[in-house]
Amino acid sequence: MTDLLITNIGELTTNVDVPGNPCGTITDGALLIRDGRVAWVGRADDAPGVEDTATEVVDAGGRAALPGFVDSHTHLVFGGDRADEFEARMAGVPYAAGGIRRTVAATRAASDEELRARLTGLVAELHAQGTTTFEVKTGYDLTVDGEARLARLAAEVTPEVTFLGAHVVPAEFEDDRDAYVDLVVGPMLDAVRPHARWIDAFCETGAFTPAETARILRAGTSAGLTPRVHGNQLGPGEGVRLAVELGAASVDHCTYLSADDIAALADSDTVATLLPGVEFSTRHPYPDARRLIDAGVTVALASDCNPGTSFTSSMPLMIALAVREMGMTVAEAVWAATAGGARALRRTDVGHLGVGARADALILNAPTRTHLAYRPGVPLVHEVYRGGVRQS
Ligand code: NIG
Ligand code: FE
Repeated sequence: MTDLLITNIGELTTNVDVPGNPCGTITDGALLIRDGRVAWVGRADDAPGVEDTATEVVDAGGRAALPGFVDSHTHLVFGGDRADEFEARMAGVPYAAGGIRRTVAATRAASDEELRARLTGLVAELHAQGTTTFEVKTGYDLTVDGEARLARLAAEVTPEVTFLGAHVVPAEFEDDRDAYVDLVVGPMLDAVRPHARWIDAFCETGAFTPAETARILRAGTSAGLTPRVHGNQLGPGEGVRLAVELGAASVDHCTYLSADDIAALADSDTVATLLPGVEFSTRHPYPDARRLIDAGVTVALASDCNPGTSFTSSMPLMIALAVREMGMTVAEAVWAATAGGARALRRTDVGHLGVGARADALILNAPTRTHLAYRPGVPLVHEVYRGGVRQS
């Protein structure tokens, strides 16, 4: 593979932590990519010579570059559409987790080809908007074979597959929720396990109780999966406390937090993943990112792309919302959408552009990363490199 030197980068965000410069920003930077990894990074003036004819040189024309986005929370495998619920919410109807069952019915009715077509279409959207690493959850079938099918399809597009059998109790188990939890921790876990890396549960009124969540996540851990939690989305609750107690990689949503929740997070390795697309689309208040960051909590931003609460695949939109609505600086929001997502997925090879990182980089049609928030809704992605390969 030919070496690639990307030079004349006006503002290069590396996320290589330098005291006083947590985004590792380099003005007039350059990146040398070899065998799909970052081989050198620094000021363009100091870049290694390129007399070697095997080095391809890309002139970024003074544009900004940053690590590809790491979207650590999506639900991309599903059938159907719930635009009607969105419309009703905008007219004042509150969000209820029960809507998940509508997507479950549509997903069960869809063929593999239909689900795959939807999934690959959404993945193309993610890529076009600069996301180079993403997680995908199951959770819209809720039968043993069906959840295994969703995990298998998800594994075709990402290694970051999450088993979310505990999304809601399906209608057929309405009167016997214990039997459903037995199914999740037994045959469903066995069937999904070969395709998954993570286990998740929706710990919320209307979904799963703290005791059920703990049982499910412990079973997943015993089976070799690592826990993550949907918690504190619709109201205060035990999700955060449980996530920290069980050593979850991340607790996601974190919209309604107590002072104790924040202290517990600050004292843990659990990332708080904020999903502002949900608040945009449900009219709940945005999570208080400022308070979390000031308390020392590691914050990630993710899209939560799903048909119910956040049908967007746009990480630039998450950055714009975080800056406009959640008290984050641009640097914090960009870090949270790249390095923060990598932490939430416990990945050290992505989310930064230090030497040895996977060469996942994004060149913006803008001079600085600030434009991601300053120009909301504008497609600013000029070029995307994944593993050092330019995407068309
Ligand atoms: O992350 N919170 C639970 N699950 C999704 C919503 C799913 C749906 O409404 O279909 C979420 O917001
Ligand atoms: Fe979610």
